[in-house]
Amino acid sequence: MRVLSGVVMAAVMMSSAPALAADSVTVYSYRQPFLIDPILQDFTAKTGIEVDVVFAKDGIAERLTREGRLSPADLVLTSDFSRLMELVDKHLVQPLDSTIIDAAIPAQFRSPDDLWFSLTKRVRNIYSSKARLGAIDINYEDLASPQFKGKICTRSGKHPYNVALVASMLAHHGEADTKAWLEGLKANLAQRPQGNDRAQVKAVKEGLCDIAIGNSYYLGSMMMDPNQQAWAQAVAINFPNQSNRGAHINVSGMAMAKHAPNRAGAQALMEYLASAEAQTKYAEVNFEYPVNPKVQPSEMVASWGQFTEDALPIQALADNHSAAVKLLDEVKFDM
Ligand SMILES: [Fe+2]
Repeated sequence: MRVLSGVVMAAVMMSSAPALAADSVTVYSYRQPFLIDPILQDFTAKTGIEVDVVFAKDGIAERLTREGRLSPADLVLTSDFSRLMELVDKHLVQPLDSTIIDAAIPAQFRSPDDLWFSLTKRVRNIYSSKARLGAIDINYEDLASPQFKGKICTRSGKHPYNVALVASMLAHHGEADTKAWLEGLKANLAQRPQGNDRAQVKAVKEGLCDIAIGNSYYLGSMMMDPNQQAWAQAVAINFPNQSNRGAHINVSGMAMAKHAPNRAGAQALMEYLASAEAQTKYAEVNFEYPVNPKVQPSEMVASWGQFTEDALPIQALADNHSAAVKLLDEVKFDM
């Protein structure tokens, strides 16, 4: 597998893009190399198809737009759902009708138009202080309850993980109730939204708040980090809404680039990424839940317990995305 920087990539394009196209696939990836490298190496070993990865923290949609028909990108990997939606909204992807992928990934986690596919799932959990609250049976709705006044920590409401959660609330409750909920949640915050998901768990450990909102896999990565282990050990992981609709799920995913020079290669790689073999490896490295129901989560993730998932189709998060952003502005959530 070859990881190319932006500069090198441009040079390759100009000199030898047509020669590369037949036996290599170019991936533009928001996902970090350590997560996907081992899987891509397996794919190359199995198929002989080389994979060139262009990793970017930001700006893949802009880059695809700029490159247009000359783009070398065959497929895009995203670390969250809103970036997948951005590609769709800007018409930067094309549909892929694959019976292999359709069999591997449940319909709830695929685009109704075959424009995108989820690869991994994560819960937006509610973490509670073991010392002050212990494990709790809680609904997202309860975060607005006066009993938690001054007790809750979260990152920016505008972060894609929180926008997706608000979008799911909109899908279930409609605008008026979701707005009231957001106002209640804002009133319960211990401090202005700031930092990332791990910082909220750290704040619980430090006694700033009793409850943190955060994705499930961060508990795994904090446990593995000697500098963060104590934060993770200070919290209980709670799966919300277990006596009703289930916990909110967000996803990472993939889509075929609109001008993919190597459609067949991209399809082969996308089918491999959905396979039980690749899903097993993916689940191990990032403590996420496999989207392929035949694959079990890693041992650590399984130890957090079984839970009910919200069955809301992921497409509903996209449909409610702009309304969620608008509501977060209206209640001035981050101010
Ligand atoms: Fe994340």
